[in-house]
Amino acid sequence: MQYDIIIIGAGAAGLMAAASAGQRGRKVVVLDHGEKPGAKILISGGGRCNFTNRNIAPERYLSANPHFAKSALKRYSQNDFIALVGKYRIAYHERDLGQLFCDQSSALILNMLLDEAGAGSVELRLGAKVGGITGSGPYTINTEDGPITAGSVIVATGGLSIPKLGATSYAHFAARDYGLGVTAIRPALVPLTFTDADLDFVRVLTGIAVDGVVSCGKTSFREAVLFTHRGLSGPAILQISSYWREGQDITVNLAPDLDVAAKLIERKDQRPKAEAKTILAEMLPSRLADGMCERAGIGKKPMAELSNKALTQLGQMVNAWKLLPAGTEGWRTAEVTLGGVDTEALSSKTMEAKAHPGLFFVGEAVDVTGWLGGYNFQWAWSSGWVAGQHA
Ligand code: FDA
Repeated sequence: MQYDIIIIGAGAAGLMAAASAGQRGRKVVVLDHGEKPGAKILISGGGRCNFTNRNIAPERYLSANPHFAKSALKRYSQNDFIALVGKYRIAYHERDLGQLFCDQSSALILNMLLDEAGAGSVELRLGAKVGGITGSGPYTINTEDGPITAGSVIVATGGLSIPKLGATSYAHFAARDYGLGVTAIRPALVPLTFTDADLDFVRVLTGIAVDGVVSCGKTSFREAVLFTHRGLSGPAILQISSYWREGQDITVNLAPDLDVAAKLIERKDQRPKAEAKTILAEMLPSRLADGMCERAGIGKKPMAELSNKALTQLGQMVNAWKLLPAGTEGWRTAEVTLGGVDTEALSSKTMEAKAHPGLFFVGEAVDVTGWLGGYNFQWAWSSGWVAGQHA
């Protein structure tokens, strides 16, 4: 069988690229070492796939070149994907911050992509052992069933997160083989871990979630913060993890709508006999209020016995709690990979390697990483689609 395009990786970006190219009449084969396609689509969004976001904007992507994502995101936008979902009559709903989720199951998004690829007569080879890429247009890839040659190759093997789902560095090795750069990579959208006293403190509060603002340097996110037995998680923490680097503090505001110190001082006059933790529990979940008073060394003291200075310190702990993360939970739980194939080497319009016509890199394999909330799938759809239009 003669193919025009070989796509490696039957995930979000690979399937979109396959549908986009196949429907242009290109003869496409998709190779994936997994037994099933789209494993990450299936588990995404807690099984409901947060497939895009109404507020997609290039500024919400991290990359060594902050302009790189613009072109693809414009050519195939969130509205294009929403229209496709509409065409398949997949029911969806909007959650906070423009996030769109399926009402029923992520499987509907995967089936839609497989149908779209089918409409382009795409051949899907699963459980395939895929060797390295050789040649310079045409390109050859060795498989167990023999070599396959095509004028174009689209590498869509994703990043390194969740190794048990079959994540590999294939794209990074392939890029280096062809002299393309790969930026430093690290787990992102990942819970932060702590040690010593911070861990002891956080662990006791496992299960508590609050609406907070988490900041690192000049970047802040306001979303839920979750205490776990390993550290801090929840959307605000996952978001900041993409910006945090070892040795940096983060600041957590656990009551962003309140000046807690001022409120405590006001309440001291009104309820002098009440314990501070009872008053703080008017502003925070009571277990967290207990923990904060304990940590501030206030114990069970009544408000009247606490100086305004002590109450101000307690308030500052709540509004600007400084912590030094020890690290992240790593690839095992990270949602995405920060960094990847250097965008310097790629055309932002087509995802084609500038020095190697016919060789494309798309999706998470590329140094473009979105915020939490449907941004990463949109990048997979957009980059996959533009590559499929040009390969
Ligand atoms: P993806 O990982 O989807 O696909 C890569 C494919 O390549 C896989 O099928 C893999 O088997 C194959 N492959 C890898 N190495 C290979 C090799 N050597 N040979 C052959 N095949 C190989 N994003 C979002 O926007 N909304 C969400 O709700 C979520 N939720 C979410 C939950 C969890 C738990 C995770 C881990 C991630 C998310 N994400 C997300 C992120 C999102 O899943 C991710 O950004 C996209 O799947 C990336 O699409 P790609 O096609 O680039 O890689």
